[in-house]
Amino acid sequence: MNSCQHLAIIMDGNGRWAKAQGKPRTAGHLVGADNVRTIAIAANDLGVKYLTLYAFSTENWKRSSDEVGYIMKLPSYFFKRYMQEFLDRNFKLNIIGEMNRLPKATQDVLNYGIESSMNNTGLNLNICMNYGSQREITLAAMKYAKDVVDGKASLDISEEEFSGYLMTSGFPPVDFLIRTSGELRISNYLLWQIAYAELEFVPESWPEFTPDVLKRCLDDYYSRDRRFGGVNK
Ligand code: IPE
Ligand code: IPE
Ligand code: MG
Repeated sequence: MNSCQHLAIIMDGNGRWAKAQGKPRTAGHLVGADNVRTIAIAANDLGVKYLTLYAFSTENWKRSSDEVGYIMKLPSYFFKRYMQEFLDRNFKLNIIGEMNRLPKATQDVLNYGIESSMNNTGLNLNICMNYGSQREITLAAMKYAKDVVDGKASLDISEEEFSGYLMTSGFPPVDFLIRTSGELRISNYLLWQIAYAELEFVPESWPEFTPDVLKRCLDDYYSRDRRFGGVNK
């Protein structure tokens, strides 16, 4: 049976879910934020060690300033409500993405979450904020090029060494990627890290993605034959 050390989720469908209830899109983001807590706890209980969640992409700045502004305030809401519980559960918060382009108040809250949980050794909860995989790989290439120029890196490096320049440096590759709300695309998410991930696209929107749905997905994942290009007997 496969083990799922690193689970990544594209949390999609908040807006459509809210609209279907006659509510503004932001109402979906609020319920979606609460669901991060529910699913982080469920994933931890199911043995996941790294949970990487797509919360805001480099492309999401195209949305209305009202919607973007609302999403930028959600970390504050979220940490006030759940940070103590996460600390008690030994969760370690990491932010993946260019944080310096977020509003200062959002950065402060995220830094508080990172610093207060930095010595924790349980679930790594990675929230992708202002994250885009092509940007990440471009930044990694720039850093690597600079190291070569400065004589700190060889011109000939392995894939593993290059991984160390990515924002996910130190994390294992993604084992399993789930996208909610029925869209069949990757939307610039973890392109390098999902090279050999198993994929699952579920019809449920993120607010409807319950621990039971997660369990169903993982049961499917456990039963798959991961070959990594080889042959299993
Ligand atoms: C995912 O839900 C959350 C973010 C991208 C911030 P959406 O906001 O994309 O919801 P839909 O896909 O429009 O329904
Ligand atoms: C991907 O969802 C980004 C996040 C979940 C944060 P989007 O809703 O932005 O992706 P597209 O536009 O449908 O590809
Ligand atoms: Mg969407």
